[in-house]
Amino acid sequence: MFTRDEALERVERAGSPADLFGPFDPIRKKDAQRLFRALAAVLHPDRVGAGDTRAHAASAELTRLHHEWQHGTPVELRTARGAYRITDRHAVGSVANVYRTDGPHVVKVVRNPALNPLLHAEWDALRRLDRLTDEHRWLRPYYPRLVDESGDVSRGERAFTVLEPLVDGFVTLADVRRAFPMGLDGRDYAWMHRRLLRAIAGAHRIGLVHGAIVADNVLVHPEQHGIVLAGWTFAVTTGERLLATGKSIAYPPEVRDGRPVTPATDVHMAHTLMLDLLADNETRQRTFARWCTQDNPDRRPDAADLLTEYDELLEELHGERTFRPFALPRTGA
Ligand SMILES: Nc1ncnc2c1ncn2[C@@H]1O[C@H](COP(=O)(O)OP(=O)(O)OP(=O)(O)O)[C@@H](O)[C@H]1O
Ligand SMILES: [Mg+2]
Repeated sequence: MFTRDEALERVERAGSPADLFGPFDPIRKKDAQRLFRALAAVLHPDRVGAGDTRAHAASAELTRLHHEWQHGTPVELRTARGAYRITDRHAVGSVANVYRTDGPHVVKVVRNPALNPLLHAEWDALRRLDRLTDEHRWLRPYYPRLVDESGDVSRGERAFTVLEPLVDGFVTLADVRRAFPMGLDGRDYAWMHRRLLRAIAGAHRIGLVHGAIVADNVLVHPEQHGIVLAGWTFAVTTGERLLATGKSIAYPPEVRDGRPVTPATDVHMAHTLMLDLLADNETRQRTFARWCTQDNPDRRPDAADLLTEYDELLEELHGERTFRPFALPRTGA
């Protein structure tokens, strides 16, 4: 029997199926099966609890590694429209893992089947955004694109979403924050925030509240000054309560208290993020952000109004807008 930590260590350390199960040999299938079962039992969501996202990630990874060891091919996920063969893991999110495939897409697979409804909520949000951008094409670059989805799956199976890849040249705002521990120059954060505000105001036009505007959910293309607001599993229609909240998000007060959320909730979250990313000496922008993070949702300005307000502040601070190249510092490999 393994402890949770031993099981995590084994799975997380494995760079390939052979690392975990040894070189493939049909004679060893039973041994591999035994090891798989032992590890799976320890890491099972029912055993570790709903909040243990690290164990959920390892559990999903274990299934993938075992499949690949047995079949010599990556896991294939099927939908009514096609089949997607998962290759390597690209990212670990709050409820799902994102995998690359051997085709042109990425697949987001929920780690705990009990959370399948969150993926359903995201499909709904992405479809609504898709319809919005049919009409307002300039908003298209700000949202992920849904390519295909698992639909309803059998009990105990994991729902998944096929998405257009945002891989080459993209990092997350969390990566940006790590790369600039002293915070960002306000002129760099300016283009990111302007675009983020557009993404948010767009969703609010159709009554959609994102509900989890945190650094991991904002994808940034430093070279092209691109911003994509990802991670829509918590999205709801304004006036509803969030289906779930990441344990890490204990703000704004309406979320903490389990009250209904509104566009003002996103405004708070986006500006909490801004306070987190900006350097300490960006006093004017920080004051602006604090105005948007007041406890009372009714006192926070609308995202649509903020588009102009923020541009006015930037003009006052820095004059006419100019393109300012931005790159993450190279880290010594
Ligand atoms: N289309 C995409 N292409 C490439 N990487 C992506 C894509 N969508 C998301 N990612 C990456 O995968 C991570 C996890 O994705 P995402 O945030 O959508 O899932 P989650 O955190 O599990 O769920 P959610 O944020 O919706 O609650 C993101 O932080 C991001 O780094
Ligand atoms: Mg996320």
